[in-house]
Amino acid sequence: MTSEKRSSFAPLLLRWYDEHRRDLPWRAKAGETSDPYHVWLSEIMLQQTTVATVGPYFARFLHLWPRLRDLANAELDDVLHAWQGLGYYARARNLHRCAKFVQDNCQGVFPSAEQDLLKLPGVGTYTAAAIASIAFDQRAVVVDGNIERVISRVFDLHTPLPKVKPEIKEKTDWVTPDQRAGDFAQAMMDLGATICVPKKPACMLCPLSDLCDGREKGTAVDLPKKTPKKPKPTKFCFAYWIETDDGSILLRRREEKAMLGGMMEVPTSDWVEQPQALEESLKQANLDQGYDWELLAGEAKHTFTHFHFEMKVVKIKLAKSQMKNFNADLSQNWQEAFWCHPRNLVDQALPTTMKKIVKHAMK
Ligand code: ADE
Repeated sequence: MTSEKRSSFAPLLLRWYDEHRRDLPWRAKAGETSDPYHVWLSEIMLQQTTVATVGPYFARFLHLWPRLRDLANAELDDVLHAWQGLGYYARARNLHRCAKFVQDNCQGVFPSAEQDLLKLPGVGTYTAAAIASIAFDQRAVVVDGNIERVISRVFDLHTPLPKVKPEIKEKTDWVTPDQRAGDFAQAMMDLGATICVPKKPACMLCPLSDLCDGREKGTAVDLPKKTPKKPKPTKFCFAYWIETDDGSILLRRREEKAMLGGMMEVPTSDWVEQPQALEESLKQANLDQGYDWELLAGEAKHTFTHFHFEMKVVKIKLAKSQMKNFNADLSQNWQEAFWCHPRNLVDQALPTTMKKIVKHAMK
């Protein structure tokens, strides 16, 4: 691309943005200053899902914790609970850690330099650049999925993702302006979300169409290329739906370091890549002696980023006479376990996977 094209890239895009910018809840209105707390919160939420999904979560978080210090002082369980359904609970823990860190170590004020933002819990390369530019108008090179698409099309880059990422970063750097870097990043995101979309890009409406090599060559719609993904493995487990005579069920808190760490679960057997025999799993869980169990037909299914998950539910109804022994064994076999009546499940930080088990068991 010639230097003339380079010099017209940002002005064309920013002119378009001034007219067509999306009105998003965390975005400062034109001419207003951004609130770093809003920008940070939205960027952490947007790492894993779409603008449409984040809207209600963002509103709820601000309602519960209007300022950074409110979030820093919140109970972790309440934060995890409000995060329910957004997935990746490690992000919610880091969110809470980050709020505390900024409150305790930075006088409650987010740092504005990209390098300092990078030191905060849960803030990686993308988020540091996004916050520095959007909240503080620092020049930073922001690259997310939408921007990858725009850049690989404008520059007609055919190397597949992820190998092409350094080249995309270099090109993005090349076209990022010194002024209005935050608006530029958001304009690129909006362009990718509304015009330079994956399947049917609206090139006729695109402010960059005259600069776009992909449009000129007719390759845009096929870019960016992607290295085919390996198929996801499937993991299996049994979930033990253990019920007392008054209908309460056994829940426990997952280990901090495990996936979904610190969230509540219906106790399960190990998550393994080959289905286990039920008898073996009951034995491992010390549930093979004298309990009435029923294996429910079908399974609850969930897909995580790296694997599919199939959970078979085993219902065990404890008779009144068995309660004493079972409770005596609890602390030994089921650490951090407790009884919860199904009507109170709404108060528990149950991840989506576990909600699916509950739904399957209560069908
Ligand atoms: N996706 C991630 N961050 C965004 C932002 N600030 N504006 C629009 N889309 C986004």
